[in-house]
Amino acid sequence: MAKRKRRNGPASKVTPSLPPVTAGLLSPTRRVPAEVERPPYAVSGDPGPSVSAVTRTPDEIASMRKTGAAAAEILLRAGELVRPGITTDEIDRVVHELSVEAGGYPSPLNYRGFPKSVCTSVNEIICHGIPDSRPLADGDIINIDVTLYRDGVHGDTSATFLVGEVDAASVQLVEVTLESLNLAIAAVTPGGPVRDIGQAIERHAVKHRLGVVREFIGHGVGTEFHTSLQIPHYYDRRLSTPLEIGTSFTIEPMLTLGDPQAAMWDDGWTAATADGTRTAQFEHTLLMGVNGAERLTVTAAGECAHDRVLAAAV
Ligand code: MF3
Ligand code: CO
Ligand code: CO
Repeated sequence: MAKRKRRNGPASKVTPSLPPVTAGLLSPTRRVPAEVERPPYAVSGDPGPSVSAVTRTPDEIASMRKTGAAAAEILLRAGELVRPGITTDEIDRVVHELSVEAGGYPSPLNYRGFPKSVCTSVNEIICHGIPDSRPLADGDIINIDVTLYRDGVHGDTSATFLVGEVDAASVQLVEVTLESLNLAIAAVTPGGPVRDIGQAIERHAVKHRLGVVREFIGHGVGTEFHTSLQIPHYYDRRLSTPLEIGTSFTIEPMLTLGDPQAAMWDDGWTAATADGTRTAQFEHTLLMGVNGAERLTVTAAGECAHDRVLAAAV
């Protein structure tokens, strides 16, 4: 006897047609105490052209391990705040205060004029969402992107968190996006080409019928927030730049349920999917070593917010 086909699967929520995310109100600019060391763009907003090397000195590497761990700690704490009802501005307040308490400067603040201390990107927002008065709703997904500047270097890391009970398609999007980051980290080798990153990510996305955002990419990071090194998350055979030992860089894939084409809000920052479908992102700061890429954005205890996201899913 043939097995009966299950018509209605177990009670799994379908992708909700929640109202699109809209801009809320911004709180007043947050202050950083005078004694905190600021990145060069903190006053003018202009980072200028990249002049730094893409590889780090031994002293810079020591600083990046510490700053990366502190950034990872802040992302963990930020993730613990996520629940229906909290506003993205409240998340910004906590990230700002934890950054200053850690003796650092929240890198997003006034970077090219960005008005807040962290990026919060909900549902169809791909990246660079500005924290505001919008409360999180049950069923949302939110990427929190923390960057800390301390001891002359930046640590840049993000995770997408689930808010309350999230539909199955969105949970899978989040899961596959995290897997794609980890596959890319495993794929890179010392002296190997940058294209290995996009190849690993795109292959995994295609397998799960998800889109890969092309308009925003990973980057070299170190004494500068963004160095000249570019890290696309899609495959292009021409991306032959070698990842030499000592290179510090991010991998931060953004995958989409629908078309990965982006549309900018008129605030000049917020990037949404043009078709309004959901998108997720995870990011680590990495250091190329003799044995491959080392994750710099994990806590001193080896913890990472990434590992908690899906443990929380039901
Ligand atoms: N953290 C983001 C990245 O991963 C950059 C944010 S720039 C900001 O590169 F100005 F929006 F904060
Ligand atoms: Co980054
Ligand atoms: Co980031």
